[in-house]
Amino acid sequence: MTTVSDFDPGATFAADYPQLPIPAQGRVDTSPIVLTAALDESLNPVWAAVVPETRARRNDFHLPISLAYARRLCDAHPQANRELVLVATLLHDTGWAHVDESKIISDGFRGDWRKAEIRFEHERLGCAVARRVLPSLGYSTEFINGACRIIDGHDTRPLAHSIEDALMRDADRLWRFDTTGIAVVSGWLDMTPAAYTDRLESEIIPELITSAAVDMAMADLGRSRTLLQTGILR
Ligand SMILES: [Fe+2]
Ligand SMILES: [Fe+2]
Repeated sequence: MTTVSDFDPGATFAADYPQLPIPAQGRVDTSPIVLTAALDESLNPVWAAVVPETRARRNDFHLPISLAYARRLCDAHPQANRELVLVATLLHDTGWAHVDESKIISDGFRGDWRKAEIRFEHERLGCAVARRVLPSLGYSTEFINGACRIIDGHDTRPLAHSIEDALMRDADRLWRFDTTGIAVVSGWLDMTPAAYTDRLESEIIPELITSAAVDMAMADLGRSRTLLQTGILR
């Protein structure tokens, strides 16, 4: 007998996690992300393999900071496959290095950006990067396919289909709440920090899937607003 989950992997995930945002099962660290302790070196070979890809679209900020959030989200969700979340997060936007750079802002952010062809392209090309670099680093075909299932659609697929997918998506959003993310993304969008932090609160926090991510986002947002004096500078 076939069930809905045979066709829709998201159905199984939704059934396993009926409560949204998903409650944390482990420790939730809401301290400033800049206080992240020295990281283990297990992912250094992956970083070394994608240095050129970190030069695109401020990936040299976006990817390491998102990875730091991903580690914290994995601490809060010990049931998730940690290595899969971390590798998928590290690689998820490497495809931006292989698209027409002139269209990144014009097509990737304006209008209905989730349906922009360049969004689909950066996801496909990110999978190509994963399939290029991971095999020689000892990752199995099964693991690489799992990473690509997360990378492919991370921006354009409306819903997460696994806890690992959900944690990567939350990590991808959380970096924006740190002052570095606010500086970079408000510049891309030509918005003031005050207007951008307002948007974070009204549009991005409701998109977060886990309660750990909501807690981290709220803590960062409060600190960033205070630091940047967005109550006055608006
Ligand atoms: Fe992306
Ligand atoms: Fe991203």
